[in-house]
Amino acid sequence: MGSRLEGKVAIITGGASGIGEAHAHLYASEGAKVVVTDIQEELGANVVRAIEGEGGDAIFVRHDVTSEVDWANVVKTTVDQYGAITTLVNNAGVANFSGVEEETLEGFNRVVSICQTGVWLGMKACMPELKKSGNGAIVNISSLYGIIGTPSMVAYHGAKGAVRLMTKSAGLEYAKQGVRINSVHPGIIKTPLADTLTADYIAEITATTPLGCMGEPIDIATMSLFLCSDEAKFITASEFVVDGGWGAQ
Ligand SMILES: NC(=O)c1ccc[n+]([C@@H]2O[C@H](COP(=O)([O-])OP(=O)(O)OC[C@H]3O[C@@H](n4cnc5c(N)ncnc54)[C@H](O)[C@@H]3O)[C@@H](O)[C@H]2O)c1
Repeated sequence: MGSRLEGKVAIITGGASGIGEAHAHLYASEGAKVVVTDIQEELGANVVRAIEGEGGDAIFVRHDVTSEVDWANVVKTTVDQYGAITTLVNNAGVANFSGVEEETLEGFNRVVSICQTGVWLGMKACMPELKKSGNGAIVNISSLYGIIGTPSMVAYHGAKGAVRLMTKSAGLEYAKQGVRINSVHPGIIKTPLADTLTADYIAEITATTPLGCMGEPIDIATMSLFLCSDEAKFITASEFVVDGGWGAQ
């Protein structure tokens, strides 16, 4: 066990799988009390059991990030259990691959409500406790696709681009109130979400990634860990790309 997050209480949304799950393990292993939230209850409970088995301290809360009522419950449960909230990782997300004409209003709204509105709701719900902590940190998981465009993914690009600028706006708003807010922008990472991509798509991106492979969830969690730790005390309203160099081309 390390101590880079000693004394922190971290909420990690979408913590039952993939990048969020890696965050939950890593944060707990660095001394944070971890609140794993997700709509996938069984997987979320499994993550918490595994963390406890590793000697960490974590709880699971069932949570739909699009619901303001659920957010209020997450905040209350966290404060009841651990007495504070110092850290929020807005990670929950979904992708869909539809172009401008194929996309439906329902599909568009679903991606935006989870990937974009959910991030704002999380910052809003947790902010009073984060301010109270005097040393709060938020990491919003956007995507490389929140910085660059690709064809036929209109809702996802829109929502992830919005997360990038909401992060800058909120980071500036709270800079003098003791809360740092940054965004992380993963390239292609081996998770169940990436399993929804076609093999051809993955092969093409991997072949054109300068570092020559897909990323792993831990590569994203490691960046977030730094941003949520006190080591990053001079960093806010900024964006951090973790993509094997793909987006630089
Ligand atoms: N995997 C990649 O290549 C990649 C690349 C860039 C960005 N991202 C982003 O990283 C984040 C994590 O993705 P991942 O790859 O680990 O995917 P994943 O599917 O493994 O995990 C996403 C988690 O979010 C949860 N979730 C979905 N809707 C939710 C809701 N309404 N409320 C609460 N939880 C909900 C899912 O149940 C799941 O556990 C997402 O925001 C995604 O957009 C992923």
